[in-house]
Amino acid sequence: MILVTGATGSVGQHVVARLNAEGHAVRALTRRPDEVAFPEGVEVVGGDLAVPASLGTALTGVEAVYLLAMGDSPAELLDTIEQAGVRRVVLMSVGFIDDDSEVQPNAIAATHWAFEQAVRSSGVQWTFLRPDEFAGNALQWAQQIQAGDVVHAPYGEAHTAPIHELDVAEVAAQALVDEAHAGASYHLTGPESLTHADQVRLIGEAIGRELRFEETPAEQWRERMVQFIPAAIVDSLLGTLAAAVGHPAGVSDVVEKVTGHPARGFAEWARDHAADFR
Ligand SMILES: NC(=O)c1ccc[n+]([C@@H]2O[C@H](COP(=O)([O-])OP(=O)(O)OC[C@H]3O[C@@H](n4cnc5c(N)ncnc54)[C@H](OP(=O)(O)O)[C@@H]3O)[C@@H](O)[C@H]2O)c1
Repeated sequence: MILVTGATGSVGQHVVARLNAEGHAVRALTRRPDEVAFPEGVEVVGGDLAVPASLGTALTGVEAVYLLAMGDSPAELLDTIEQAGVRRVVLMSVGFIDDDSEVQPNAIAATHWAFEQAVRSSGVQWTFLRPDEFAGNALQWAQQIQAGDVVHAPYGEAHTAPIHELDVAEVAAQALVDEAHAGASYHLTGPESLTHADQVRLIGEAIGRELRFEETPAEQWRERMVQFIPAAIVDSLLGTLAAAVGHPAGVSDVVEKVTGHPARGFAEWARDHAADFR
């Protein structure tokens, strides 16, 4: 049995679907099991990663876990997972972890680093997925694009190598079933470095409209976002974007090596999600 946490999330839903389609026994974890539907054959279980004691049923008979770094007690969570007899964990981490330093560059990296450390310290086999920006982050602009042709946001010239959620999910699914990936930290990216302004233009091409990016001062964006997201997270995101202005992002070949096909480009992602922007 494979337990997929974050099973309702942008990546987890595809991990579930892929494993299920390949004939693996899959259990999907969510905090709201009565509200969500999964493909036939998938077991659904309630549980909260922030409350490790809530995971007893979810972990029963499980060999491998796709794990999100959620909750405040990574050591207790990993202890619970190991005690349940799980052999392998594939952890969703982030691309900007600094392996050469005990002090991580920002709060998001620090949280994921703490989960990586807890996984390493446990007795389980592990694989760390360290994706660059998800292409799906562009959905944050959907409302603006539905309403007009201009996206207002900070750091339009920041480069990232956005990755399609299907590619992350395919790598995760492989790592869950094949122990050849044990001990690997996979930096996952899309196939090309793009600025956020490039992404907006490519969404325009996918929906047949000419879209453009207009710069919002970072401080103004910060003031708005801290109403919804913890300030440390907002500052992590802004700091990462500011540092990426004018610096093309590194592109990794891990997706192709693990899945056997090239990583999907942002233009393909935008076509797959065109309906979200119309
Ligand atoms: N966005 C990026 O650019 C980026 C880049 C690199 C890495 N990441 C990683 O990707 C993760 C998000 O993955 P995603 O995009 O697939 O998810 P998502 O679409 O953001 O959805 C969040 C998921 O987390 C689950 N969740 C939240 N709190 C939980 C808790 N306390 N216990 C159990 N489940 C909980 C939700 O499940 P329910 O609501 O159903 O319970 C939902 O499935 C981030 O946390 C980060 O680690 C993101």
